[in-house]
Amino acid sequence: MVLIGCGFWAIPALALRPTPPAAAIATAHPLATQAGEEILAAGGNAFDAAVAVSAALGVVEPGGSGLGGGGFFLLHEGETGRKRFIDAREVAPLAIRGAMYHDEEGQPDRDKLTVGPLASGIPGLPAALVHLADNYGRLPLSRSLAPAIRYAREGMAVRPRLARIIERRAAHLQRFASTRAIWFADDQPLQEGAILRQRDLSRTLEKLAAFGRDGFYAGPVADTLVASVQAAGGVWTAQDLEQYRIIERAPLVLSFGDWQIVSAPPPSSGGLVIGIALNLLERMGYAKASAVDRKHMLIEAMRRAYFDRTRYMGDPDFVDVPSRTLLSAAHAEQWLKSFDPRQATPSADLAPEPIASVGMGVNTTHFSLMDSDGNRVAATLSLNYLLGSGFVAGDTGVLLNNEMDDFVIAPGVANAYDLTGGEANLIAPGKRMLSSMSPAFLEGADRVAALGTPGGSRIISMVLLALLQLMDDPDAQAAVALPRFHHQYLPDLVQLGPGALTAAERKTLRARGHTLEDMGWDYGNMQLIQWHLRSGQVDAAADPRGGGLAVVLPSSRAPTRSANDSPTLDLETRP
Ligand code: DON
Repeated sequence: MVLIGCGFWAIPALALRPTPPAAAIATAHPLATQAGEEILAAGGNAFDAAVAVSAALGVVEPGGSGLGGGGFFLLHEGETGRKRFIDAREVAPLAIRGAMYHDEEGQPDRDKLTVGPLASGIPGLPAALVHLADNYGRLPLSRSLAPAIRYAREGMAVRPRLARIIERRAAHLQRFASTRAIWFADDQPLQEGAILRQRDLSRTLEKLAAFGRDGFYAGPVADTLVASVQAAGGVWTAQDLEQYRIIERAPLVLSFGDWQIVSAPPPSSGGLVIGIALNLLERMGYAKASAVDRKHMLIEAMRRAYFDRTRYMGDPDFVDVPSRTLLSAAHAEQWLKSFDPRQATPSADLAPEPIASVGMGVNTTHFSLMDSDGNRVAATLSLNYLLGSGFVAGDTGVLLNNEMDDFVIAPGVANAYDLTGGEANLIAPGKRMLSSMSPAFLEGADRVAALGTPGGSRIISMVLLALLQLMDDPDAQAAVALPRFHHQYLPDLVQLGPGALTAAERKTLRARGHTLEDMGWDYGNMQLIQWHLRSGQVDAAADPRGGGLAVVLPSSRAPTRSANDSPTLDLETRP
């Protein structure tokens, strides 16, 4: 039975073993993991480490997140068991109108939605870092930001992964002189091995460190942000920056069998889609089904849960998202009427209108960490896709997001992740765009874990598959390495990552009417930490598809490492 809760409980097992014997960090970049280690060693807690890791990722993995973007942080306090969700999602500027994204013929103009500052929502990450340090951390913000400031000032060699991202987005980056100044050398995109120095960004980080919120949302940085955005065709005003606030929300608490799952509430669609799918799986008989039947059930559950995403989900401060109804038994029963255990349900039978589709490359980042007091953070941060809007705001060094594309520009027009939507997610001034980012905790009688991944619309199905896998098998590395498949209602396809189905499963699922599409590339970059409450073992695992680093730090602080740096596998940059 899936339930919706407010996240203020502690599971009984925590009372038996209140603190883990080790801390653990899993992030998408070794230098970000090291920033977290440095802050824990300096006496910081998991929340200080989360500030350090987030800021560092924005510098060393700049294609995925940064001060110019936003994200979600899921927090667990070890001592009290209290859980909170920090919504640092970008918001639409007050002067925005949906029609600004149309061309002269009144058609949606995807370029405006994705490149340059008209594509950028008001950033939330700087406010989140200040909020975390002030309300949850032990160290001053300036200490936790120190590693990121150092990385930005000293520079780092461009790794193969980043070089490919820059190359892919070069045409967009070179439109803006402020961007070219950082990401190009001698009129060429920075190549592998070149030194990327971000001195402007280090100065902006220093202002944030010195003045908190006002270092970014007021004063000279804010003036430059507004002036440069307006000069390049955007509509930000000083009021937008002044008014930006993170929102602390109660996380969504679900249950499945003996497990508790804690994840993102709206304006993310993640927790609800996972909850709707789990509710269906429970009633379909997932627990006792064969491997291929489980896959059929998962595809059909994803199809229906993503349909609900399309129809009902948006910013809860603007539209009434019927969360309780969507997670109710009655809703699940209604969906089950069309479920056939032997046959795929065509998505068109759920909603007949044809949907346009646009494919595109993606990026974002996730990290999971825990300190030795049992405080935990799962955070997914984003600029939307690769290097965001490609626009660096003046001399701030801040690369702005292109998160506006996560809104619905018009019914039936898909965004970069082939997602469509309805009224609930239409653009409105001051509104947060619907997200798929799903940082999650899995909590059981003898294990707790924190996990998440980038991957656009596929984030939710990846987290769902990993949660189910982890319930069956405690192997953390197996959960992040799990082959993946995805269905998002429309397009009506099962998208397969490498190794997702055996030959026999393919045959069976095709015979049941599923359209299978081999993507030809792999996706996701999951980061997971886990604490076995009875044995005391702590695990950390970084997705083998990415270049991340997972470490376990016993109280001696001698790290155990498991790096996954495979320069030939660069899956996030594929179209
Ligand atoms: O919030 C969202 O759903 C998207 N902006 C996330 C983008 C993403 O994960 C791209 N990843 N590879």
